[in-house]
Formats: sequence, C-alpha cells, structure tokens
Amino acid sequence: SAKQKILLLPGDGIGPEIMEQAVRIIDWLKAERGLDVELSEDVVGGASLAKYDVPIRDEVIAKAKAADAVLFGSVGDPAWKDVPFDRRPEVAILRLRKELNLYANLRPAKLFDPLLSASALKPDVVRGLDLMIVRETVGGVYFGEPRGIETLPDGTKRGVNTEVYTTAEIERVARVAFDLARLRSGRVCSVEKGNVMESGLLWREVVTDLHKREYSDVTLTHMLADNCAMQLVRDPRQFDVMVTGNLFGDLLSDLASMLTGSLGMLPSATLGTPEGTDKQAALYEPIHGSAPDIAGKGIANPLAQILSLAMMLRYSLDRGADSELIEQAVSNVLASGLRTADIAAAGESRVSTAEMGEAVLKELQKLA
Ligand code: NAD
Ligand code: IPM
Ligand code: MN
Repeated sequence: SAKQKILLLPGDGIGPEIMEQAVRIIDWLKAERGLDVELSEDVVGGASLAKYDVPIRDEVIAKAKAADAVLFGSVGDPAWKDVPFDRRPEVAILRLRKELNLYANLRPAKLFDPLLSASALKPDVVRGLDLMIVRETVGGVYFGEPRGIETLPDGTKRGVNTEVYTTAEIERVARVAFDLARLRSGRVCSVEKGNVMESGLLWREVVTDLHKREYSDVTLTHMLADNCAMQLVRDPRQFDVMVTGNLFGDLLSDLASMLTGSLGMLPSATLGTPEGTDKQAALYEPIHGSAPDIAGKGIANPLAQILSLAMMLRYSLDRGADSELIEQAVSNVLASGLRTADIAAAGESRVSTAEMGEAVLKELQKLA
C-alpha cells in the first residue's frame, strides 16, 4: 500500500520547539514499530509571513488536502499584532480548518493521576476526570457575515461579527458528539446561549431533534454556556461529551485544560470532509497557542503536541496500539515525577522541553 503522507506545520513561537519532540517519536515509530509514513514540512503563520508575505500559501493548503493527516504546532507572533486581520499569523489555522472543512474539533480533557496536585481544583473534584469537548470549528461567530470594522459619519468606528449556524452545520457536529458518546459513557451535554441568541436557540432545536430521530439511546442534556463554565469548575466530572459552537468551545476548552494541570497538556484532533470529496481530512494540534512569553527558552511542555500525535495515530493512521503506547509512556514519565515548569509545584525541579521529550522516548523504548 502507498505510504501515508503526514504534513508537519510547526508554525511560530514554541510550535517548532514542541514539534521537534513529536518528530523524534515519529522517527522512533518508523525505525522500531514499522510505521510507514512519509513526512514533509512547511512554514505557516508568522514564519510564512516573514518568508512569503502571506500567513499560509495556497500550495500549503493543497499539500494539507493531499496529506493523510496534518500535525500542526501553533501560530501567532506579537510582531504581526498591528497588521490587518487577513495578514495575521492566525489566518493559517483558520484557513486550514475552513478549506479542509474540518468542522469537528475533538478536545479531550483527561487528568493524568500523577498530575492530581497540578490541577487548579481540589483532588476530590477532579480525580479521574475524562471529558471530551466537541467544538464546531468552521462556522459561528468566527466566520459569520457581516463582519468588519467601519468608520461612522462622526469618525468613531463600529466593529461587527455575526454568529451564524445552519441546521446542516449543527447536525453534522452533533452527530460526531453522539457517535463519540456511544463509545464512551453515553452522555452528551449541548452548550449554547439560546436564552439570548437565535443561533443558540436553533442549535438546541437541531440537537434535540437529531437526538430524538437517531440517538435516543444517548442521554442528552442542554446547558447555557455561562452556567457551563461555572459547572466545569464546580463539578467537572458530571460531563462526558460536550458539544458546542466555535467560540464557546474555544473558551471552555482552555478552561478545562487547567483542570488537568496545564494548557500544555491538552491535544486535539480536528476532523472533517473537504467539499467535493468523501475522504476524511484531519489536523492534529495542541489546544494552546505559540506562547510568546516562553518561546525560545526551551521550557515549553511538549506533551500536548506528543498527545496530539497519539490522537493522529488513533484517528488517522489506524495505529491504536502505538497511540496507547505513547499515552502510557507519558503517564509513566509523569508518575516518575518529571515536570516541565507549567506542571511543576513550587519548589519542584523542572525539566526542559527536550528533556521531557527524551524521557517519553526512553519510556517508549522500555515499554515496546
Ligand atoms: P497561549 O496558549 O499561547 O499561551 C497562554 C499561556 O499558557 C502562556 O502563559 C503560555 O506560556 C502558556 N502555555 C501555552 N502553551 C504552553 C506549553 N506547551 N507549555 C507551557 N506553557 C504553555 O495563548 P496566548 O498567549 O493568548 O496567545 C499567544 C498567541 O498564540 C496568539 O497569537 C494567539 O492568537 C495564538 N494562538 C494560536 C493557537 C493555534 O495555533 N491553534 C491557539 C491559541 C492561541
Ligand atoms: C485555538 C486558537 C485559535 C482559535 C486562534 C489562534 C485562531 O485559540 O486553536 O484554540 O480561536 O480557534
Ligand atoms: Mn483557543
């Protein structure tokens, strides 16, 4: 069979630093576990703006479409904070999601036992936490029209964004959530603000209707997004699968990351089907950004990137055993007490990005 193609897009800031650690693991899987993939790499975000004057080239979009999976780092660079929106580094990830029609972003928040004390919450509230946020990623207020900044006759300005969701857009992402729930604890909580937004009201109606028609074996609840943020902190284990729109999913997943110890721990998979094809497209990335405050220091936590690779092995490459091996190696390394700065307690010693990557690799060699 033809080699599967993986496109690596490290991006900006800590992106390249953490990608390097994931690539070491890919190289090991190729050498020792018979993983048969072809890697290629390209630049996106600020790195692409600097070199090609655009946040992402059409050529890179085409490569991503042709790949079996994309492993993405992160984009964003304060150097570009004053340029117009269409020339920001962040356009790279937004365009990739849109043009590959990657509408379902799976953001699991799972607490590794050894990190119980790194969680921002009390051990009794988070022990065993394992939830999955399914975030819609090609619609909502991120893409709705009209949008823009206009100057009013009196010289002041008006900034506009519009939340838009259609029946079809809601249904397809809800389907992903219900299907996942069937493989987990069988519960879905749908999150919107239908009390104040029509797009939220439609969201609730469409999810309710789909549930009735096709998924009555799954337990469905609904929650308003503000209450949901509170409930995630009060009692996060009440949730199994959550499904929500683009913006609420962005906020709630960053919030959920702190329940597991750090933003640097959470991976994601974004799945979809490009228009005009029936092939699944997939992009894997940490949920965090380029962390300009720590970039270049070699102290970023590479585990979200490494766990994103584990998701790729499971969802795109049919390598469930390798995926589990990586998760086990991460778990063992954490159990051994190794900590990057973001998950270290006061006074605990800290390892570098490369040392953490090295430790996971060593543990893999031991386990395999
Ligand atoms: P961020 O996620 O980059 O960082 C938030 C905080 O978490 C920072 O203090 C950072 O140091 C810390 N952090 C993040 N990842 C970490 C890791 N792996 N290890 C240790 N600490 C980590 O969010 P921000 O600072 O608001 O945004 C910075 C830039 O990243 C912005 O340009 C933003 O648009 C972009 N961004 C990109 C993506 C993406 O590429 N998908 C996601 C989020 C933000
Ligand atoms: C994320 C990021 C992106 C988002 C930005 C960089 C466009 O915050 O992947 O969570 O808001 O979706
Ligand atoms: Mn985000």
